Amino acid sequence: MKKPILTVALASTLAFGAFGAQATLAKPAEVNQVQPVKVFDHKVIEKINVENIYKNIDYLSQTPRVAGTESEDNAVQYIKEQFESYGYETEIQPFTFYGYTPPSNMELTVDDYDGELQPSSFTYSVNGDVTGELAYAGLGTAEELEGMDLTGKIALIKRGELSFAEKVLNAAEKGAAGVIIFNNADGALNGTLGSHNDDYVPALALSKEEGEALLALHNSGETLTASIKIEGAEAGEKVSHNVIATKQPTNKTKSTDEIIVVGSHHDSVAGAPGANDDASGTAMTLELARVFKDLPTDTEIRFATFGAEELGLLGSYHYVDSLSEDEISRTVANFNLDMVGSRDAGDLVMWTLDGQENLVTELSQASSERLNGEQPQVYQGGRSDHVPFAEAGIPAALFIHSPTEPWYHSPDDSIGKISKEKLQEVAEIVGAAIYEQARFDRMGPKPKKTPKVKASPEMIHEQDVK
Ligand code: BES
Ligand code: ZN
Repeated sequence: MKKPILTVALASTLAFGAFGAQATLAKPAEVNQVQPVKVFDHKVIEKINVENIYKNIDYLSQTPRVAGTESEDNAVQYIKEQFESYGYETEIQPFTFYGYTPPSNMELTVDDYDGELQPSSFTYSVNGDVTGELAYAGLGTAEELEGMDLTGKIALIKRGELSFAEKVLNAAEKGAAGVIIFNNADGALNGTLGSHNDDYVPALALSKEEGEALLALHNSGETLTASIKIEGAEAGEKVSHNVIATKQPTNKTKSTDEIIVVGSHHDSVAGAPGANDDASGTAMTLELARVFKDLPTDTEIRFATFGAEELGLLGSYHYVDSLSEDEISRTVANFNLDMVGSRDAGDLVMWTLDGQENLVTELSQASSERLNGEQPQVYQGGRSDHVPFAEAGIPAALFIHSPTEPWYHSPDDSIGKISKEKLQEVAEIVGAAIYEQARFDRMGPKPKKTPKVKASPEMIHEQDVK
């Protein structure tokens, strides 16, 4: 979004620091359509230093930060130290989850097959070294397998109808030593078995083309022997952490009971430095914490970075589950900063779980209107840490740019793709929105509770697990 000259002009006009309940400045005639920037907005935006955000993104995105790994631990320590250096009491909230380390080696060979096979593993595929006769088992449904003896065989199964896990378990039940599942659409098959199960047998995935070629050879009447080797995969309990810095109301006797949560996720997917997803939101959470440290507020503000978002919003679910009923009812807003600085993404938008406006979107549209004369669009969507808050009835919104950059979840999601201009804009809008609600003599909309909605699995996960 383009900023009108107004903001710059006001920056100098505001130096006298007017203060008052509804302290606004007269609108210059030529920018009449833009809401005047309030003195209060200026108190926030003059403190924002985008270089801090950029430097912290640079630092955090040196490596991927996969939940439960040493690099996540390092990021957690760093975030805690940053919060503490601004003077915050900071809590590290650990939680466990059942994790999976993918195999370090996997091999699939089929005797008498000349073509090249490039198998991939499923998340939760188990280790093993098995050899057996290749048997075609269709879609791997219980009906299809009835009467089939797969003892010691490698079952070749097509994707579709059942989950990958159900196919593997059905074949294992019939005695299969291993399973190959091939795609029913073009492209690689990168799937998950959903969770660990002791009854799994080693399972690998092939493309449609590879699977159909094997099937054609098998159907020609040849008896084929297949071997599957999977090594180094590891399933087990792991620990991830949330980091929470709390700003108590400035004057306890004059405070509201309200809590605002400003959050982001510090973990990334494997193989991606996660500069935009979501070192950008993490670094912005840190900077907003620094900015708000000495601003007088009558509302408690919690600055949180969540772990294991990429594994299913685990950290934010853990955080919301850890709240008492009283804390939930006092939490009036969750600002979720996830992917807020890509040079190659579109305009700032907000996602709410039910697609409706709420306190967070109203405050942010108002601040954006005052600062830039434009209001970000509100769309319906899940896929990030605002979901557990919305499900608990807390007004929540995701701040993101749309359309998404092509580097999302790739090794190219790096510092070179980050725009300081985008970071500055989001930090100003969100910072001004928070202050409108949290400052003493606020004029913002009254908090409204949103009805509880439950996210359907499609709204949380993008990927198809079948
Ligand atoms: N930041 C993304 C979510 C996102 C990406 C929202 C692009 C809108 C546009 C988040 O970190 C993510 O990748 N979420 C997962 C789902 C999660 C429940 C594992 C996703 O969208 O696949
Ligand atoms: Zn993200």
